[in-house]
Amino acid sequence: MGLTILVIGSGGREHAIAQKLIQSPKVKTVFCAKGNPGMKKDGIRLVDIAEDDHPNLIKFAKENGIDWTFIGPEIPLLNGIIDDFADAGLFAFGPLRNAAVIEGSKDFAKKIMKKYEIPTADHKTFSDFATARAYVIEKGAPIVIKADGVAAGKGVVVAKTVKEAIDALKELLEDHKFGVSGTKVVVEEFLVGEEFSLLAFVRNEEVYPMVIAQDHKCAYDNDLGPNTGGMGAYSPVPQISDELVKEALETIVKPTVQGMMTEGRAFTGILYTGLIATADGPKVIEFNARFGDPETQVVLQRLETDFAQIIDDLLKGNQPIIRWKQDGYSLGVVVAAEGYPNVYEKGSQLPDFSDFLTEQIYYAGVKQQGEQLVSDGGRIYLVQASGKSLAEAQEAVYRVLKKVDTKGTFYRNDIGVKGLK
Ligand code: AMP
Ligand code: GLY
Repeated sequence: MGLTILVIGSGGREHAIAQKLIQSPKVKTVFCAKGNPGMKKDGIRLVDIAEDDHPNLIKFAKENGIDWTFIGPEIPLLNGIIDDFADAGLFAFGPLRNAAVIEGSKDFAKKIMKKYEIPTADHKTFSDFATARAYVIEKGAPIVIKADGVAAGKGVVVAKTVKEAIDALKELLEDHKFGVSGTKVVVEEFLVGEEFSLLAFVRNEEVYPMVIAQDHKCAYDNDLGPNTGGMGAYSPVPQISDELVKEALETIVKPTVQGMMTEGRAFTGILYTGLIATADGPKVIEFNARFGDPETQVVLQRLETDFAQIIDDLLKGNQPIIRWKQDGYSLGVVVAAEGYPNVYEKGSQLPDFSDFLTEQIYYAGVKQQGEQLVSDGGRIYLVQASGKSLAEAQEAVYRVLKKVDTKGTFYRNDIGVKGLK
């Protein structure tokens, strides 16, 4: 069909999405706004328009015969980019603003879960520091503090002590660390169990689950250090049974999608459910209205059928054909700037990966300096490999990372270890 597609976003997730699209025989051209220069090696064409500049994105789409647009990150979705593209008569894949709020407000997500009896951690929402503090003292630690709005995965503190919890409340409610997003705080029960991410293609009441993945949110090995956007992922997750995934689909994903329909907030797009497999079954820790980063970089490698065709079918009202590779494992490790998720330097030179032919490099926080790529963000790139076993995929990724110069950066050495036990 010779599709021309626009992807919005600039990280590793968007690199993986755009690469998968361009690999389709049905696709002629993939543009990415703004994208990053690391994407150019795959033939992805960069467009210098900001992701919040809807009028110019629409103008670009019209002038360049874009068949449809795929939205990577949450911010444009929350800004109503799908609504604006629809008003302009353009196809774009993702939820409308009134459905994306399932990610945009943790308080809203909690209300939906309560109303439709979807298993999640017990919680209370606060906007007053003194009341929140009293609640935390009453409940004790460990306890989880979450900024209501979006904060790039960094608005969550898993507090091991009451003091840590109160410090986090103070930062959010008194010092307004995340500006407006800190005006409401969700205080949540700490759930014990393995974490996993269950993503699905959703079109109104239709749910097409993807294979699951496990992300690693903490910055350092053994789940130590501050929360990040995600430091690595793998798929499948052997310690999470198929029955448990099925239970999560039936008791969580499907009723949520139905609930959103009932609320007049029908969801079409990628619904990301973050779950913990507790002793009482799977429970939700978060919903996102988009693909996960770094889950996408490992999960899309396991998609057997044509990604571009799937999105095209979902947009045009056709039945999509979605099949996943049943054997083999996919694993990815993020390389981040030393200091991330706090203060870090930019400008360190990236290694040359041209010797590695079977592993994938997905670029994120990079910019071009002459012929060179240099770091320009917290999460810089991800190395992905596939293998017959989880150990094989893991060894392949770390083999690459040990061979190249990673000065000025760091990565976790234990991505996938939980799945090997
Ligand atoms: P979130 O941004 O909501 O996914 O939270 C970031 C990370 O904090 C998650 O990936 C979990 O590792 C952890 N987390 C969040 N909520 C809980 C909870 N209720 N119990 C235990 N860990 C949690
Ligand atoms: N990897 C977590 C997220 O994308 O929200």
